[in-house]
Amino acid sequence: MKGFVSGLPKVELHLHIEGTLEPELMFALAQKNGIALPYDSVEAVRAAYEFDDLQSFLDLYYQGAQVLRTEQDFYDLTYAYLLRCKEEHVIHTEIFFDPQTHTDTGIAFDTVISGIHRALSDGEAKLGISSQLIMCFLRHLSEDAAIETLQQALLHKDKIIAVGLDSSEQGHPPEKFQRVFEMARDAGFLTVAHAGEEGPPENIINAIELLKVSRIDHGVRCTDDSHLVEQLAATNMPLTVCPLSNTKLKVFSDMSEHNIVELLDKGVQVTINSDDPAYFGGYMNANFMAIATTFDLPKQRLAQFTRNAIDASFIDEVAKAKLH
Ligand code: ADE
Ligand code: ZN
Repeated sequence: MKGFVSGLPKVELHLHIEGTLEPELMFALAQKNGIALPYDSVEAVRAAYEFDDLQSFLDLYYQGAQVLRTEQDFYDLTYAYLLRCKEEHVIHTEIFFDPQTHTDTGIAFDTVISGIHRALSDGEAKLGISSQLIMCFLRHLSEDAAIETLQQALLHKDKIIAVGLDSSEQGHPPEKFQRVFEMARDAGFLTVAHAGEEGPPENIINAIELLKVSRIDHGVRCTDDSHLVEQLAATNMPLTVCPLSNTKLKVFSDMSEHNIVELLDKGVQVTINSDDPAYFGGYMNANFMAIATTFDLPKQRLAQFTRNAIDASFIDEVAKAKLH
C-alpha cells in the first residue's frame, strides 16, 4: 500500500505555506534574523506540538511564522515545500498564504508574495509542479483589515487565483466577511473558506450562500446535518479534508472516527490534504496512508481522492482533462 500511495499522482488543495515551516528551518531563520524563540532545541519545538483544539495550534503557528522576515525567507520556505511535493508525487498544489500574519508585524505585502511567487515559478520550471496561490483573510481580525489586505492584493492580481478565510472559526462566522468577499469576486477572484472544521454546519451553508465559495475547506462537521450532506453531494461541492490535522486538533478523537469515507460513500466530492504538515506530523503521503490503513481502502477508492482533487482544482479544463 505504501508503494501505491507514494506513486499515486496527488493534487493538494488545502495547504498553508506557513504551516510547512519545519522546526529546523524555524531555528535557522530565527538565528539569521536575530529572533528569540521560546525553545532551546528542534526537539523541544516538536515536543510542544500537542494541541487541544484549533486555537492552541494557531497560537504556536502565528508565533513560528514570525521568523519569516525577508523575500528569501519566503522563497526558501516555499521551495522546501515544493521539493517535498516532488518527492511525494504531488503534481499540482494550491497554496494558502496569510499576508496579515506578516504585514501586522511590519513585513511588506510585496516581500511576502514576491518570495512565494518566485519559488512557485521555479517549482514549475525546475520541478514540473504546477501551482496556484490563494490569499486568506484572518477571520479573527476585522472586516476593515480584510478590505485593506484585498486592496494590497489587487496590485498582485496576476499571482493570486482566489481568496480564502482561515484562523479561529468559533465566534467569526462567514457572514462577518460577506462584503469583502463580494468585493473580491467583483475584482475577479474565486473564493474558498474554512467552514465546519470546529464550527457548526450553518457556517458551511453560509459560506456557500453568502461567500459563494467554489470549495469548502474542511467541512467535516457537515455530517451534523444530513440534509446538508445530501446537498453537498447533489451540487458537487468539494470538501478539502485534512485527516491528520483533524485528529491532531481533536476534531475527531481517533482516525477511526473520521467521516471522510462515509462522505465518499455518500457521493460528496472529498479530497485529502495536509493543511499544516510541519505541525501535524505528515505531508500528503502520510495523510493518504492514515486513511488507507485505518479504513482498509482498496486502491481504486484511494485514487478517487486524486480524481476528486483534479476536478475540484482551479486548473483550466484543458489541463484537467490531460491530468485525468
Ligand atoms: N490556519 C492554518 N491552519 C488552519 C486551520 N486548520 N484552520 C483554520 N485556520 C488555519
Ligand atoms: Zn487549513
